Amino acid sequence: MDSAPRRRSARPFAALRPADVPVALVTGATSGIGLEFARALAADGYHLVLVARTLPRLEETADLLEDEFGVPVRVLSADLASEQGIATVVAFIGHERVDVVVNNAGYGLPYSALRSDPAELAALDRVLNVAVQQISWHAAQRMLERGRGGIITVSSMAALTTMGAYAAAKSAAMVFTENLAGELAGTPVTATAVLPGYVHTEFHDRMRVDMSKLPSVAWVDARTVAREGLADARAGKAVSVPGLQYKIAYLIAQTAPRPLIRGVSSGFRAVRMTRRSRRRPS
Ligand SMILES: NC(=O)c1ccc[n+]([C@@H]2O[C@H](COP(=O)([O-])OP(=O)(O)OC[C@H]3O[C@@H](n4cnc5c(N)ncnc54)[C@H](OP(=O)(O)O)[C@@H]3O)[C@@H](O)[C@H]2O)c1
Repeated sequence: MDSAPRRRSARPFAALRPADVPVALVTGATSGIGLEFARALAADGYHLVLVARTLPRLEETADLLEDEFGVPVRVLSADLASEQGIATVVAFIGHERVDVVVNNAGYGLPYSALRSDPAELAALDRVLNVAVQQISWHAAQRMLERGRGGIITVSSMAALTTMGAYAAAKSAAMVFTENLAGELAGTPVTATAVLPGYVHTEFHDRMRVDMSKLPSVAWVDARTVAREGLADARAGKAVSVPGLQYKIAYLIAQTAPRPLIRGVSSGFRAVRMTRRSRRRPS
């Protein structure tokens, strides 16, 4: 269930920090890539607002980061698959100063599009795309008023493929963010889409996909994704592709004919189906 910030909301955030200390809000901050973004931002002195669904884990993560970095951390429990969850984050951005937003929360579906329920496809699109657009829009308005800010959206290399509803939603989030970067050009506010390749996190376990046969060259670690993503955002880049192997893949994908992209995507999908440890009965 969604909730307003609990224990850490007792005092207004402004009371916890001098006016010039920057604040970062990270969605999906309790694990994997989001946690590494939160760590990197805390190491740079940012005060944090962590967003995810599971409140006890949010509280644990907040304690961990407060102990490790000595910065105040607040938590917002919100399911970004629901309108109410998105509204919770938008309301927070409306009444508290947020200097950096990292749209990172996400997951993949364990089944292909046709084997998923339409409701599952819609929920995925809300988390990966609708929430990103709503949160980014509101954050951009507030940041423009205040004259500074950065929006980072964790999309995926999958955005360049035709690999199912996940790729479609990631592509929409990437294009929305690239467009924002263009609209914000010449202002003190930036927008950056980060396109990670395969990253060791809880992502594939949650999907119950066995990734053990994927060669080590295909993996990028979550810390590298956060470090390079933040560096590229600070440099004002519209797109960040962490890891040399994926920088090369990104360049190839820019010039590859679309039928080839569709063919390669179908091949990946077939391999993934054989790697999945549990199949939905047809
Ligand atoms: N791992 C990869 O190979 C990879 C590659 C490219 C892109 N990405 C993208 O990177 C982002 C982070 O994924 P990850 O790999 O770090 O996965 P992860 O370790 O599973 O972390 C996902 C985070 O998102 C939160 N979350 C999931 N569903 C949510 C919802 N409906 N509302 C709010 N929060 C939600 C989770 O917390 P709760 O469960 O408590 O809500 C958790 O904090 C995702 O957008 C993913 O698509 C991952």
